[in-house]
Formats: sequence, structure tokens, C-alpha cells
Amino acid sequence: MAKLGRFITFEGGEGAGKSTQVARLVERLRVLGLEAIATREPGGTPNAEALRKVLLEGLVEKLSPASEAMIFSAARVDHLDKLIRPALARGAYVICDRFADSTRAYQGGALPENFIDQLEKLTVGETVPDLTFILDLPAEEGIARADARRGNGKADRFESEAIEFHRGLRAAFLTIAEKNPQRCVVVDARRSVDEIASDIWTCVHARFIGAQN
Ligand SMILES: Nc1ncnc2c1ncn2[C@@H]1O[C@H](COP(=O)(O)OP(=O)(O)OP(=O)(O)O)[C@@H](O)[C@H]1O
Ligand SMILES: [Mg+2]
Repeated sequence: MAKLGRFITFEGGEGAGKSTQVARLVERLRVLGLEAIATREPGGTPNAEALRKVLLEGLVEKLSPASEAMIFSAARVDHLDKLIRPALARGAYVICDRFADSTRAYQGGALPENFIDQLEKLTVGETVPDLTFILDLPAEEGIARADARRGNGKADRFESEAIEFHRGLRAAFLTIAEKNPQRCVVVDARRSVDEIASDIWTCVHARFIGAQN
């Protein structure tokens, strides 16, 4: 399938502001009359949303990192086949809340690098994001935001991990950014929603929109 659109992903720890910024970016693209789709992982299609429930609600007992990574990847294959690639083929902007970098950051730490490299290659193929925003902030701040948003609701499988796990995630996302400097842009997520959205828009405009006019 030919790719005419643009694939932009948002990554970062819990409560970093990914969902907030996905919505902002989609809004700005639509104002220009462009087709922009907001989607998320795990999820994005009915099958993948069903797998999301299994992964995040921890239905029976904790999965091993390998099996968790493979279920995330199975959901991703469905999402790519049914939603992401068809949308890119017709020229849409696809804005995705988490993607393969999250599997590398969350499960990769407990797996051999070669395992995660191979799995990612098999799953993603050539549909590597054109641009990835890594929303970076101290683990404590992200968790505090996620806690405040959740209120009395139950923490999910990852939100309930210890703070050291979340510190490790932040480091893992920064390592991914260092290794993929063309694709990844690290954004200081401690600032206001508007300041972050403005930086993101400047970057998207410069890379994809301004360049075409
Ligand atoms: N820049 C910001 N400053 C302060 N609060 C923010 C900012 N961005 C988002 N928030 C708030 O923090 C909470 C988490 O934001 P959001 O849901 O966008 O994060 P997320 O990265 O999608 O989190 P999760 O990983 O849990 O899905 C929300 O209540 C949101 O309104
Ligand atoms: Mg979110």
C-alpha cells in the first residue's frame, strides 16, 4: 500500500500529556481542512481494543514481558492493517497516542534487545512513524497528573507499578530519542498545555505543511 499521508506518534510515561496533545494536534490539522485521524495504542480497532482490556486490566495474573510484548504487537498488527495503513494510503494524517516505542520502553527493559528489535521489525515493517514526539517529564509529576485525573478510579496494570519503573521508562524513552534523532523530538512536558501544543505545531508545520507551500 502506497503511503501518501503522515504518521505522527506521541510517546512518554503515564500522565505526560499525550492524549491532550494528540487532540490539540488533530484539531489544528483539521482547521486547515486536512484529514486527521486520532487513534491510540493499545487499541484503535475493535480487536485491538479488546486486547487493550486484557493488557491493561490484568485479567488473570501478570504476563511475562515476552508474552506481554507479543500481545501488544498482535494488537498493533491489527491496528496497522485495518486503520493506520489504509488511512496513510489515502493521504490522511494519522496521529497515534503511543506506538512501538512504548513496547520497547515498557517491556524492552526486561527482554534481550534483539528480541524487541526483531518483534518491532516484524510488526511495524515499513510503517515507521514519520515523526515521534516524546513528552518528557519527571516520573513523579506524570504519576501525580494521572492520579489526579483518575480520582477514585482503579489504577491500571502500568499505573500501579513502583516509581522506579516509571523512572526507568523516562530514561528508556530518552534513549530511544537519542538513537533516532531524525524521527524523534523530545518535548519538555512540564510546561503548560498551550506552550507544548505550540512547539508541536511549529515542528509539524515546518516538517510537513510549510514545506509543501
Ligand atoms: N501540560 C500540562 N500541564 C498540566 N496538566 C496537564 C498537562 N497536560 C495534560 N495535563 C493533565 O494531566 C492529566 C494527564 O494528561 P493526559 O491524559 O493527556 O496524559 P497521557 O500522557 O495521555 O496519560 P496516560 O499515559 O495515562 O494516558 C490530565 O488530567 C490532563 O488534563
Ligand atoms: Mg492518555
